[in-house]
Amino acid sequence: MARRSTAFVCQNCGAVTGRWQGKCEACGEWNTIAAESAAPAAHQAGRNRRVFALEPLAGVSQEAPRLLSGIAELDRVTGGGFVKGSVLLLGGDPGIGKSTLLIQAAAALAKAGHRAIYISGEEAVAQVRLRADRLAISDVSVELAAETSVEDIIATLGIGPIPHFVVIDSIQTMWTDTVDSAPGTVTQVRAAAQALIRFAKRSGAALLLVGHVTKDGQIAGPRVVEHMVDAVLSFEGDGLHQFRILRAVKNRFGPTDEIGVFEMTGAGLKEIVNPSALFLSERDLGSPGTAVFAGIEGTRPVLVEIQALVAPSALGMPRRAVVGWDQNRLSMILAVLEAHCGVKFGSHDVYLNVAGGLRIQEPAADLAAAAALVSSLANAPLPADAVYFGEISLSGAVRPVAQTPARLKEAAKLGFVRAFAPETARADPDTGIEVVGIGALLSLVGDVTARRGTRPRAIVPQPVRQDG
Ligand code: TYD
Ligand code: MG
Repeated sequence: MARRSTAFVCQNCGAVTGRWQGKCEACGEWNTIAAESAAPAAHQAGRNRRVFALEPLAGVSQEAPRLLSGIAELDRVTGGGFVKGSVLLLGGDPGIGKSTLLIQAAAALAKAGHRAIYISGEEAVAQVRLRADRLAISDVSVELAAETSVEDIIATLGIGPIPHFVVIDSIQTMWTDTVDSAPGTVTQVRAAAQALIRFAKRSGAALLLVGHVTKDGQIAGPRVVEHMVDAVLSFEGDGLHQFRILRAVKNRFGPTDEIGVFEMTGAGLKEIVNPSALFLSERDLGSPGTAVFAGIEGTRPVLVEIQALVAPSALGMPRRAVVGWDQNRLSMILAVLEAHCGVKFGSHDVYLNVAGGLRIQEPAADLAAAAALVSSLANAPLPADAVYFGEISLSGAVRPVAQTPARLKEAAKLGFVRAFAPETARADPDTGIEVVGIGALLSLVGDVTARRGTRPRAIVPQPVRQDG
């Protein structure tokens, strides 16, 4: 029977179609379908089957032994060190410092007497050495190679003592000759990852794969690789700041709500032992109109500064401009502030900005946005050690939001001591953060205006019925 030898595979989601199409029906992306030759049959017919022993659940299992890098911020995110035989995927924008982080981790493990191997598919050995010089780790016994063939790599790793720690930088540059597609295609990435993961599980080496990310921040290539690995870490930061945040997106051997904070310096990544100091130093302390929002991005807590500027307008129809948030949501908050709290924005231009280029979708940002708006209008700085979250309803009540413990934990981790939150929010004694319950928006407005500085501007909050 003649078999089709070419398959058309979406490079975004991995869906397979029988013919080329401009648009992938599965994920809706355009121009992502590429021809790939179909993988040969995975097993030959008639091969002798090996019978394996089944193990009782109640057997003796070794406590998952871990490799501690000694880089505390990294060890925290991995859940207490790299687990032997586990596979981690590290994603992040180009130039964020993935290679730097991993060569530093490899050097730290080599110093502790482990066999650490760094295989680069992107840079030549000389370039990796140059980086090591810069990091002052060139005297450490990390073994290097610039290779991209998975079969050659696995054969080489099989020689000599079993390596404890292997870095593959990056999985998109690896190729295996079991499939014919070009390196970087979905089929190649999946097959190469499969072969490397099999090696890690068999040998007990901790394997680190570097993954490229697409423009919307997802790890490039098939989603299935994220399911195959034991942990997915993402390395984040923005181009304007030197700090980088390492987060666990998935972790079979540890928590996913821990973050590690680093600073990129001229001599590599330095741990930030007290991130709050760094974070607060970035802020304009005590200036009116900024509130810190304790948000959740997907499954991850993210603290972000919401900035508002409310200024008297010369226009008949004052401006309302928003960056990083929903315009309709801003209109709603302004209307609620006017209707229920007597705060008038009618003759003011209003600008709202989410710092750092983030886009916030959550309604939980309402309370932080309202606090920033009132703070700017009243010229009353908000407390620098407080975060805000809560959804505002049209009646002016503050409604509960999901994942309060994660928000509080992140805020405590970053050095905040107070959270203005819906009344139902309960303080977690472990985090030591004080929760100020806000039942109605009016009480927040009262709290903010009470902090007014020496140059008061227009407002005094009044319940609206006294205006009429
Ligand atoms: P790199 O680790 O190559 O990023 P990735 O592997 O994620 O693409 O880091 C590259 C950037 O980091 C580059 O812009 C230079 C900067 N850098 C420093 O600022 N200090 C250093 O010590 C090193 C090694 C890199
Ligand atoms: Mg790199």
